[in-house]
Amino acid sequence: MSDSHATSHVIVNNKPLRIAVLLSGSGSNLQVLINAMQAAELPIEIVGVISNREDAYAITRAKDASIPVAVLSHVASGKRMGIKTFESHASEQLNAWQPDLIVLAGFMRVLSGSFIDSAPAPMINLHPALLPAYKGLDTHQRAIQAGERHHGCSIHVVTAELDAGAVLTQALLEVNQKDSADSLQARVQKLEHQLLPWTILLIAKDVINLSNQGNENKATYLPALPLKLWLDK
Ligand code: GAR
Repeated sequence: MSDSHATSHVIVNNKPLRIAVLLSGSGSNLQVLINAMQAAELPIEIVGVISNREDAYAITRAKDASIPVAVLSHVASGKRMGIKTFESHASEQLNAWQPDLIVLAGFMRVLSGSFIDSAPAPMINLHPALLPAYKGLDTHQRAIQAGERHHGCSIHVVTAELDAGAVLTQALLEVNQKDSADSLQARVQKLEHQLLPWTILLIAKDVINLSNQGNENKATYLPALPLKLWLDK
């Protein structure tokens, strides 16, 4: 992290929230966080990015912003890296960065309970559906096929069970009759780009407190969770 970034952060309680981001793809959500950090709109410092794909465009975004990147490719030198090896390298890297919060933003590997429990910070995941509905993959297609009138995205605490941890925040939209899986994905991504920085702001300001996450994997909070944003019609 360059000094120019460090000095441009909004400082809350005298220090920005140190964030590590795990991802696998384009990184449009990472870009939103980078922009907010650089514009001093969020009290964060992105201390590092871990990608499990060497072709993820997010790597370019991070490097352009002088953010340290660890590429822990699931296929290295023609050999597949098992999840245990990935987790051991990722743990080492996270321990070195000492984040306050770990954000999974389009990270497409399933992590083990022991990795999650021993992580140096609480972990949240951005999921493209209104949990607890549509855990897993192909969420937009499944929502359309089921004739859902509403769809959106959620941010939840990461636990060993896939997409099942406490839901912290959600952003909703109305599904249009003409929506395809692709158009819905594009519309939901716009919501994600608002939901993720908003949620991180709530965590940075302690409106959502994740510190007792190891205790029943529940977040403590002031208002009832999940907090919902209705962002589109
Ligand atoms: C986001 O839409 C996120 O919800 C989804 O991956 C996309 C990453 O986009 N995450 C999952 O599907 C997790 N199971 P981005 O790389 O442009 O930020």
